[in-house]
Amino acid sequence: MDVKLSFIFASILLTAASSSVYERDEVLRIFPRNAEDVRFLTSMEEQPEISLDFWKLPSGPDNILDVHVPKASLSHVKDGLTRQGIPFSVLVDDVGLALQQHMRTNRMSRERSRMRRDEGFDFSVYHTYREITDHMRYLADTYPEIASMMSVAATYEARSIMTIKLGKPFSNGTAKPAIWIDGAIHCREWIVPATLIYAVDRFVRQYGSDPTVTRILDDLDLYVTPVFNADGYVYTWRSDDTRLWRKNRAPQAGPCVGVDMNRNWDSRWAEGGSSHDPCSLLYHGTAPFSEQETRDISGFIWAHRRDIRAYIAVHSYSQVWMAPWGHSQNRPPGDAAAQDALGRLAVETIKSVHGTDYVAGRAMETLYQVSGDSQDWTYDKAGIKYSYIVELRDTGRHAFLLPPDQILPTAEEIFPSLLAVGEWVLEH
Ligand SMILES: *[C@@H]1O[C@H](CO)[C@@H](O)[C@H](O)[C@H]1NC(C)=O
Ligand SMILES: [Zn+2]
Repeated sequence: MDVKLSFIFASILLTAASSSVYERDEVLRIFPRNAEDVRFLTSMEEQPEISLDFWKLPSGPDNILDVHVPKASLSHVKDGLTRQGIPFSVLVDDVGLALQQHMRTNRMSRERSRMRRDEGFDFSVYHTYREITDHMRYLADTYPEIASMMSVAATYEARSIMTIKLGKPFSNGTAKPAIWIDGAIHCREWIVPATLIYAVDRFVRQYGSDPTVTRILDDLDLYVTPVFNADGYVYTWRSDDTRLWRKNRAPQAGPCVGVDMNRNWDSRWAEGGSSHDPCSLLYHGTAPFSEQETRDISGFIWAHRRDIRAYIAVHSYSQVWMAPWGHSQNRPPGDAAAQDALGRLAVETIKSVHGTDYVAGRAMETLYQVSGDSQDWTYDKAGIKYSYIVELRDTGRHAFLLPPDQILPTAEEIFPSLLAVGEWVLEH
């Protein structure tokens, strides 16, 4: 057999055997020792032919970096790390297999839940964008005195990004203090919408029976946007091969698609920890707020900045509750002590439910900088003192492919932390 023919033959065999483009890809857990190690890794990220996908950047109080390496780049990357003396281990040894297991489990759980139809919305499975917005609409229709649907933003593909506003209006008609919560600006973080729709449901149903919930909805407005990146989220549901998409779906230069919408905000935009390469998963866009989604949402937050007392951007994974800043090692003078106190209260509250350890900290306590992220904008520009990034479960065992049986425990431990934030802003 000549070389060309055997190559074709091998390709056919590989195609037949692999049902996922990610088969035999690995996720490496890397332990950078200093800023130089991080620079080495980010320089690899900037080489498009290596196609690295950072699943977890060194953020929060540890310096771990998890990176999804395509099988074609594995030996190159591992050799590079070994040569530099950077310690690493294998976190996921076959991304394709892990992905298939995750999707199969969710399909089976959804099937079981369909068969028990009468039980209503099943919080223990992952849901499509349509199902999530339908449930929000159902709650708003059923509890109109405390819940209403709104859309303050549109997407590149002309979807409405749905927000639910919770709270009983003041009888004198004045604006209420408010909390803004958004999730899934990175659409592969499926645990986030699942956790937020659960929280919305509990708020609405426990109003009038739970004194804390009642007080919060009487005295505050909550704006909850479970799926910020609606186009991307719909895309992650299309097939196993699109499940790990992170950015929005707006076409960019050349063959590239999407902007990392958590690098696109008008706060120290493109000053580090983001990419100029339109194909990169960390691409910051052509300009601050170049994207419809970030422009619209930030516009709403800006218009309500005097009322919004807390901003919470929910992500996964890592189990951290982070205060500003993402761009600087410094602690915000004046506000750091109060931000940290609420962060500590939030993680204690989370732990009290199922014993799960979250860490309260700041993104920039470590080696990696982020710029143009939502939290820095809401804090520095909109002046929202309690601006946080929360990273949900887990710490990397399943990462974005968290099994459905962890949805309810995650949602149950996060809901009381949102109550804690509500009570805190009412008392401070
Ligand atoms: C409106 O009512 C709320 C809640 O009772 C109160 O806190 C607020 O001060 C009132 N505003 C005015 C202008 O009366
Ligand atoms: Zn994220």
